[in-house]
Amino acid sequence: MAAEMQGVSKIEAGTIAAARTGTVEKDPYTVTLIPGDGIGPEVIDATVRILEATGLRFTWDTQEAGANVVPRYGTALPDEVVNAVIKNRLALKGPIATPVGGGFVSANVSLRKRLGLYANVRPARNLPGIVTPFKDIDIIVVRENSEDLYSGIEHVVVPGVVESLKIITEVASTRIARHAFEYARLNGRKKVTGVHKANIMKLSDGLFLECCRKVGREYPEIEYTEMIVDNCCMQLVTKPQQFDVMVMENLYGDIVSDLVSGLVGGLGVTGSANIGADAVVYEAVHGSAPDIAGKGLANPTAVLFSSVMMLRDLGETEAANRVENAVFEVFQEHKYITRDLGGTATTAEFVKAVIGAMR
Ligand code: NAI
Repeated sequence: MAAEMQGVSKIEAGTIAAARTGTVEKDPYTVTLIPGDGIGPEVIDATVRILEATGLRFTWDTQEAGANVVPRYGTALPDEVVNAVIKNRLALKGPIATPVGGGFVSANVSLRKRLGLYANVRPARNLPGIVTPFKDIDIIVVRENSEDLYSGIEHVVVPGVVESLKIITEVASTRIARHAFEYARLNGRKKVTGVHKANIMKLSDGLFLECCRKVGREYPEIEYTEMIVDNCCMQLVTKPQQFDVMVMENLYGDIVSDLVSGLVGGLGVTGSANIGADAVVYEAVHGSAPDIAGKGLANPTAVLFSSVMMLRDLGETEAANRVENAVFEVFQEHKYITRDLGGTATTAEFVKAVIGAMR
């Protein structure tokens, strides 16, 4: 198959089902569970309860990461966690807090690096019953996950001057561009937009664009356009309907994907997958929300939608549709929605309503 010849496996193209056939026990599925910090354990627990109500059987290989394990392991990401994801090839993850400024290295970034999770795919579309000023949104943000300013190469040049290196490579740019186009082809999408700042960063973003153009020429059926990132942010809040699949470097992807989440209801309703050649980590877009942690108020939809992406990738389309439709029904009814969406329901009430709608 052409894609495989060019080094893109089916798993990288976002359909891990075929790639894993024969290597995964279906009944039960073994999934690494990383509850994380803050609201992480609450939203993961809610998701597990809903997934188990689908009738599918799961074995949860629960692993601890984050600030709590630093005193024990000297790191926020013990080897055990990484090894468990490698073994099971699948993980469902809650948010992990990262100290600002000093402190330990981000467990999220380390996990992506150590597992080679180079693509972050974040779909956002309007949801029934969730009214926002934006209509007809159906956007897939494909974010490069492994390099750019997130390489973490920083040093003090002289006191008062810090240098932070932005690394852009042909290999990673070509890989993410191919992921975006392959995703578009597999999912019947019409257009890919490369987002950049090559007018200023002529070499680094210039290389990124060159790679996107080169890969794009192999997909003549898919329209390829480019947009400078600042204009792109403005267009996203004025004419968001023009966007379909968007591909960008790590930093722009981090910012733009949150913006896109905001168009459809916020961080609480957007799921994502971090995809590598050998493993996929499904996680919410939001952080650990320390302001509401432990209060039973968190909206678990983002992790739940991430798990729906997992079910689809596993070929469990019927279960995925049941969960998604149940959430849509609860949103539409508007009675048991959480505070971030303007409701009054607790996490537990929302979960109960979703499970009820599934039946
Ligand atoms: P945040 O996403 O945790 O919170 C931002 C706002 O959204 C808060 O008001 C919070 O209450 C609300 N919110 C977020 N998720 C929600 C949910 N599911 N239901 C209801 N309300 C929700 O962002 P913040 O405060 O910038 O980050 C907190 C911590 O999370 C930081 O340590 C950060 O490093 C970490 N973080 C981790 C991520 C990950 O593990 N992938 C991603 C983003 C941040």
